[in-house]
Amino acid sequence: MWLTSSSIGRKLVMAITGACLVLFVTFHCLMNAVAIVYPSAYNVICEFLGANWYALVASLGLAALFIVHIIYAVWLTLQNRKARGNDRYNVSKKPATVEWSSQNMLVLGIVILAFLVVHMIQFWAKMQLQEIRGVESVLPPSMGTLFIQEAFSCVWTPIVYIIGFIALWFHMNHGFWSMFQSAGWNNITWLPRLKSIACWWTSIVVLLFIAQAIVFTVNANNDFYKKDATLRDQYKEVMGDAVGIPVDRFKYDEFSSTVREHNSQLKALLGEPQQAMQMGVTEEWLNNEIARFEPVVSLLDYLEGTPAETNVQPEN
Ligand code: HEM
Repeated sequence: MWLTSSSIGRKLVMAITGACLVLFVTFHCLMNAVAIVYPSAYNVICEFLGANWYALVASLGLAALFIVHIIYAVWLTLQNRKARGNDRYNVSKKPATVEWSSQNMLVLGIVILAFLVVHMIQFWAKMQLQEIRGVESVLPPSMGTLFIQEAFSCVWTPIVYIIGFIALWFHMNHGFWSMFQSAGWNNITWLPRLKSIACWWTSIVVLLFIAQAIVFTVNANNDFYKKDATLRDQYKEVMGDAVGIPVDRFKYDEFSSTVREHNSQLKALLGEPQQAMQMGVTEEWLNNEIARFEPVVSLLDYLEGTPAETNVQPEN
């Protein structure tokens, strides 16, 4: 097939997948901005993008784009090296116009991939993947702000992210205009214009990502995503649904003490079979109730305690 057998076909595949990834990264950056201006709305978006069929189709499409882009990148680099033979080691022969990033697209791509592995472990694996697997965990998978809290309260997270963003700037800036070149749009008037658009677009996106990482780090270290009153009201709704308590009549603190008290009573009854029998409840019913209340109590502990005191690992 032309897209795989010819060099220009392969470059076109790189350009098309690259363009889709630029659009994804731009959308993702705007979505993260919602977490700064309106954190509870960000959680609504995360819920919408959870394990619903349309979000799963989009995630699979995105994964396919990344995979095709990476395979073709390695393929094209190896092909170029073979064509140039030993010349690639002869640095003095490089044309002056060849930019540093164009020489290092593969290495920059590998740095971005390493960042993505860390990023997927911190977010996707604990959110969408948990929902797909149906595994019960302390943090509700749809509450993105709690995963921002977890990720950005680690000291190394902003460092890894900012290294990833810098690599993204060089990679995206070069890839952006060179994809137009691959598509044949490389005339003398348009090339400088495209380079300028690429530089502006990439810089705005990357600067926004850096600003977000800084704001998330400051907020997470102040436990903002655990303590903010509006967010707590939203978490209360999710917890109320889990235990079947209508939350409208309770403030967060009242809800917390009601749930904790009820859970303690259930546990006490489990140790008093006589009393439980008199009340007409079976041991099985009590165990089921406790299984519903315990994760909610763990989440309340997490929200009200300090990060070091609470273990938020999934309980599978
Ligand atoms: C401050 C920076 C960032 C934050 C806070 C952030 C946050 C998130 C969150 C909350 C999710 C959702 C996980 C889910 O619902 O399953 C996600 C997914 C994802 N992020 Fe990021 N992200 C950031 C930067 C980036 C960057 C720079 C890239 C790419 C270069 C990226 C690529 C992805 C990908 C590929 C997914 C998976 C999307 C899917 O499954 O459909 N993220 N991110």
